[in-house]
Amino acid sequence: MQHALVVGGTGMLAEATMYLVNQGYFVSVIARSQTRMWRLINAAKDRSMIIPLYVDYRNESELKEAVRKTILQNGNINLVIAWIHSVAENALEIISDEVASIETSWDLFHIVGSSNDLNHMKRKAEVPVNCIYHQVQLGFVIEGTKSRWLTHKEISEGVIKAIKERRLLHIVGTLEPWERRP
Ligand SMILES: NC(=O)c1ccc[n+]([C@@H]2O[C@H](COP(=O)([O-])OP(=O)(O)OC[C@H]3O[C@@H](n4cnc5c(N)ncnc54)[C@H](OP(=O)(O)O)[C@@H]3O)[C@@H](O)[C@H]2O)c1
Repeated sequence: MQHALVVGGTGMLAEATMYLVNQGYFVSVIARSQTRMWRLINAAKDRSMIIPLYVDYRNESELKEAVRKTILQNGNINLVIAWIHSVAENALEIISDEVASIETSWDLFHIVGSSNDLNHMKRKAEVPVNCIYHQVQLGFVIEGTKSRWLTHKEISEGVIKAIKERRLLHIVGTLEPWERRP
């Protein structure tokens, strides 16, 4: 059985989480709210495929422990989707170091917001050697004379596309022209 980890899987990535469940992954999901977690679990065709990890990713020791524990209980993690707010600047590295204890390669899909410079983010995200680093940047949508931010559905669909096509770099929506952002 493949094991995935989705950080922030109960929000805009809920549909991407469900995609992994439907692909036969055991999916560990990091979030804090039980209400949103249960909404996600109840929507799954097999509830036992979602493993809730209630942890605040700003708490570094608890984060490390939660990832370590789910690996011990549910097997090595082959795929990570990470949407992490910038307040937790070490969270991605902590997660990566735990996941990288496997000998084979694994995929990290790092979701970054519109304001991040892609090359800068890619440089910043230092990943272990056995990690295949994919970056998904969230843009916006231009509709005629107006523009808007992405919907949750569009964000999840963009992440799913990046996973299916194994894209190393994928922009959901557009970032150009930047001055037309909402
Ligand atoms: N370019 C774009 O279009 C763009 C870019 C970025 C965001 N957005 C929009 O902005 C909205 C707000 O973003 P959002 O980040 O609130 O999205 P979200 O995906 O709805 O929520 C964040 C996710 O991360 C979890 N989370 C947050 N802080 C956490 C923490 N400290 N520890 C553990 N888990 C944590 C949340 O669960 P818990 O709260 O239960 O912990 C939730 O699962 C989104 O709805 C999205 O549509 C748009």
